[in-house]
Order: sequence, then C-alpha cells, then structure tokens
Amino acid sequence: MVYAVPKGEDVHALSNINFDLASGRLLTLLGPSGCGKTTLLNIIAGFLAPTGGQILLGDDPITGPGADRGMVFQQGALFEWQSVAKNISFGPRMAGVKSDVYGPEVDRLLDVVGLSGFGNQQVYELSGGMQQRVALARCLANDPNMMLMDEPLGALDALTREKMQGLILELWDRTKKTIIMVTHSVEEAILLGDIIFVMAPRPGRIEKVYELPFAKRALTEDTRAIKQDPEFVRIREEILSSIWEMEEEIMGREG
Ligand SMILES: Nc1ncnc2c1ncn2[C@@H]1O[C@H](COP(=O)(O)OP(=O)(O)OP(=O)(O)O)[C@@H](O)[C@H]1O
Ligand SMILES: [Mg+2]
Repeated sequence: MVYAVPKGEDVHALSNINFDLASGRLLTLLGPSGCGKTTLLNIIAGFLAPTGGQILLGDDPITGPGADRGMVFQQGALFEWQSVAKNISFGPRMAGVKSDVYGPEVDRLLDVVGLSGFGNQQVYELSGGMQQRVALARCLANDPNMMLMDEPLGALDALTREKMQGLILELWDRTKKTIIMVTHSVEEAILLGDIIFVMAPRPGRIEKVYELPFAKRALTEDTRAIKQDPEFVRIREEILSSIWEMEEEIMGREG
C-alpha cells in the first residue's frame, strides 16, 4: 500500500504483507506508531483499496465493505443522539429487519455485553467502558464472520480494560468469530492473540509472528496468573525490546 502525498514523498505504508489466517483465530497486530496497523485493518474492512496485491475472503477478493466484516473503533464511533438499543439495532434496521425480530436480539446482545436494562439510556449517559461494550454489541448485531478492532480498549482505565479483555475472549470462544485486533499494549496482544504479528515501519511489514497458547488458557485460567507465567514474561520482554529498538531507529532517522 502506497499513499500518494500530493506535496511530499509517497508513503510506503505496507510492503510484502503475505499471510493466511484460518477462520476462528484471534490475531493481534502490534507495532510502533505508523507501521501500518490501521492501514491493514482498513484494507481488510474494504474501506481502502490496496495499490498492489489483494486480500481474499475465502475465494473472493475484497472489493469494499460488507456485513461479513464488522469494525470496532477506539472510541467515539457510536451515534450519540440515539439510545443504546437504537445503536445496537442500527445494522439490522438498515438491512430491513423487522422490530419484532431485532428487538429480542438487542436484548440478548445487551445481556452478552453485560448491559441488560440499559437499552433506553442515551449513549452520552454511559461511561467509556460501557460505550465500548455497546460498540461491541453493535458490531455483533450484524453477525459478521470477522470482527476488526482498532485499539478498542485504548481509551479505558486499567481495570475496565482487563474486564473487557475477558469479555472479548469470552465472545471469541462463544461465537467462534475471526477477530483481528490492533493494540498498543504488548501485554494485551500476548494475552488475547492466539497469533500475534509484530509489525515494523518504513515500509510497514510483518517482522515476527508468534503463535501463543495464552488466549486459550485465559478462557479457563486466571489471567493475572497467566501474565506472571515465565514464558509470558519472556515473550513480553522480547517483544518490548524489539519494539524499543524500532522506536529508537525511527527517532534516530528523524534526527
Ligand atoms: N491517508 C493517508 N495519506 C498519507 N499517508 C497516510 C495516510 N494514512 C496513513 N498514512 C501513513 O501511512 C503510515 C501507516 O499509517 P497507519 O495509520 O496505518 O499506522 P498505525 O500503525 O495504525 O499507527 P498508530 O499506531 O499511530 O495508529 C504512516 O506513515 C502514516 O503517516
Ligand atoms: Mg492506527
């Protein structure tokens, strides 16, 4: 993916990206700012057409957005002027689903994300963590095969974030959906990713791939204990050092 910049040098945002992702996996994307995480997600979502190469969903090339892929943004992507229930039912309503069908579905999803009884609240009346749960429910309402998340937990406090990590793992386990999630937290990437791509910038590329057991373990084991696991700590340090090296290189190059 090359971005043409009218009054500057073109930006080679992604280069030589080549991978297969089996359905039902949870991939986390990690890497320094500017390494192309959002770009990759936007291309998979169909918001952006790559300047070279293609991505296949099953056998079909991605040519634009579709209900088979849902996006959850960092924050602020809800309709502030609508109730929680209206936000969640947005996709089905646009698809012409009748209220007697989506009504019970909204209630079920509210329950799934732990917001039973909040359907009639206005979005602005909710905390940041609750809003992100609405965003998850709104994404789930379209029943996408794939959920794309760009730093969905980035704006949350540590405790809420930990709870939401548990919710994402639970949803992944229960729905068997494919999830691709961008995060800036190394710990979060290792805990949630059953695959991790550590990406590097200029041009954006996949530097290292990890396949890890922790996401599956976290479904049944205490996540705090997992984070203390020597193997978890070792991988965290390894990834942190490599990202630090990349950051230093970038800083050096930028003088
Ligand atoms: N619309 C655009 N036009 C030109 N360059 C762009 C555009 N969008 C992104 N870029 C550039 O492409 C590169 C990758 O950007 P991208 O937003 O994908 O990075 P990122 O990994 O998501 O970063 P962050 O962690 O800061 O969100 C950056 O160098 C960025 O400046
Ligand atoms: Mg980004």
